[in-house]
Amino acid sequence: MFDLIVKNATLPDGRRGLDIACAGGEIAALEAGITAQAGEVIDAGGLLVSPPFVDVHFHMDATLSLGRPRMNVSGTLLEGIALWGELKPLQTVEEIIERALRYCDLAVSMGIGAIRSHVDVCDDELKGVQALLEVKRQVADYLELQLVAFPQDGVLRDPAALENLTRALDMGVDVVGGIPHFERTMQAGADSVRILCEIAAERGLMVDMHCDETDDPLSRHIETLAHETQRLGLQGRVAGSHLTSMHSMDNYYVSKLIPLIAEAGLHAIPNPLINIMLQGRHDSYPKRRGLTRVRELRDGGINVAFGSDCVMDPWYSLGRACMLDVAHMGLHVGQLSSREDMRWCFDAVTVNPARAMGLEGYGLEVGCAADMVLLQARDPIEAIRLRPVRLAVIRAGRVIASCAPQIGALALPGRPGRVDPAAYAPRERSDA
Ligand code: FE2
Repeated sequence: MFDLIVKNATLPDGRRGLDIACAGGEIAALEAGITAQAGEVIDAGGLLVSPPFVDVHFHMDATLSLGRPRMNVSGTLLEGIALWGELKPLQTVEEIIERALRYCDLAVSMGIGAIRSHVDVCDDELKGVQALLEVKRQVADYLELQLVAFPQDGVLRDPAALENLTRALDMGVDVVGGIPHFERTMQAGADSVRILCEIAAERGLMVDMHCDETDDPLSRHIETLAHETQRLGLQGRVAGSHLTSMHSMDNYYVSKLIPLIAEAGLHAIPNPLINIMLQGRHDSYPKRRGLTRVRELRDGGINVAFGSDCVMDPWYSLGRACMLDVAHMGLHVGQLSSREDMRWCFDAVTVNPARAMGLEGYGLEVGCAADMVLLQARDPIEAIRLRPVRLAVIRAGRVIASCAPQIGALALPGRPGRVDPAAYAPRERSDA
């Protein structure tokens, strides 16, 4: 007797016609034609069942604050940072909790099972830290929230930031963050990387730095991050987020840099929606795209995971907690158009970020957590093309969110009355 069986599922790796049986919060069996009884049975009808989406880069302390206290008129990263500085003293812990919980509801309904959120520690009251630690506690049963101590104003540039960051880690924040390109000088940026990596090494923590989020081809803190990771033995525990300067760097230098990043076992976290919106703002034409070298990093053996970064906040006024929107943008801007590349873009919002976050029990195998999402699409490429509804979101073997299938209604004489957006199969199966 199982708690739940999802029948006739297609998995992202192409396996078809499988039944997924869940018991005790885990996947207990994964094979075709399971006949045992279950408390609940869902017929996937051959549609795609994926492990949950993972958003490895987000700012939950700022989300859903759009318009407070005003809009970002220039659309630039720097006006966003200034606007956030205006909002911080105005908001309360209760307000941050309320917004964050509303966002978590949306994220769960969109099939997100884990989020790594940066939380600004440049605030002597640590309001964001207090709020998000409470949110983490409240959502723990249905959403894994990992917090990064993020010194938004620069851990050296802001005189109180280092002490506040240390306090945040003492309070239980999980990961050490940084923003070396925002420090006053290139040297101060390099010093910040060293100091923050040493803190992580001493405490046995992971590192995730906003790194080189600029169009400056000479912003090279990722090189320092790779070096410090090697020096301190932090391989596999460190991520570089954004890395947009790599877009503009000299090609010869990059040919040296990518092997260094791979050797240090860094994870790379581009944020396609935000990077395409914020970068290149000082250019006329041609305008740089501002996404890091996704294909080259991946082909260099680096784990590349896409993050969403922002939803309705001082930096980005759109967003809907849809990691397929993120994959869709990453696919286009990175020109990842082959069938293999498009399938990889699905991995970049599922298994790759799970690896960067060090999630345990993630995946669709016997013994993994019984967490999964049933999508109204037949394979990962169709999922990115349609960005369809999440028919069922399952956590620990229980349906925690659901949505009716999206079927259009036509009122045209002589034409069929219903339009199923998933009814247009390619001539060759997309996973063939
Ligand atoms: Fe960010």
